[in-house]
Amino acid sequence: MTLSFTHRFEAASAPGRPPLLLLHGTGGDEADLLPLGRMVAPGAALLSPRGKVLERGMPRFFRRLAEGVFDEADVRARALELADFVGEAREAYGLEAPLAFGFSNGANIAAALLWLRPGTLAGAVLIRAMAPLSTRPEADLAAQPVLILSGAMDPIVPADNAARLARQLTAAGASVTHEVLPAGHALSQADVTLAREWLASR
Ligand code: MLT
Repeated sequence: MTLSFTHRFEAASAPGRPPLLLLHGTGGDEADLLPLGRMVAPGAALLSPRGKVLERGMPRFFRRLAEGVFDEADVRARALELADFVGEAREAYGLEAPLAFGFSNGANIAAALLWLRPGTLAGAVLIRAMAPLSTRPEADLAAQPVLILSGAMDPIVPADNAARLARQLTAAGASVTHEVLPAGHALSQADVTLAREWLASR
């Protein structure tokens, strides 16, 4: 189906599970996280868009000025554009609000989406996420379940930045679980296990 983002969609095979919105990291695409989505949420509908920003040919969900330095005007505009896509896809495919499952740049846009269009997501798994905005908007995130999985040896995401994101989301009312794994920036088996367990308990 043609919607405002190039994307892949897999219909649910197990009723009753919320859909997953899969958000890839820098250089990924809409095919990247489908196998992982099937692992962490067996039977759930999977909606997987490709980021529209290109950085030296690599798809991303928003522009950055340098590693870890974000173009925040673009973060805001792109988060709203992604929220609009989620609305379109919900209507086109008959979906309830999805849980985001984002890795790295995909986790960062998911965090921005939580702040900027509350209600778009039913919650989020944020893997190797950073706080995407220096001044965060007022938002009531009550009842938003969020799992943040950070890497203790992550060379890209400073530990205090991920901790700040967890604090900010908690202060806005979200129900946050923040785990720091003995890992770097890359996904590990522990991420898959913890995400699967957390999603199963939704
Ligand atoms: C970002 O730019 O969103 C973060 O630095 C993570 C990354 O994509 O490497």
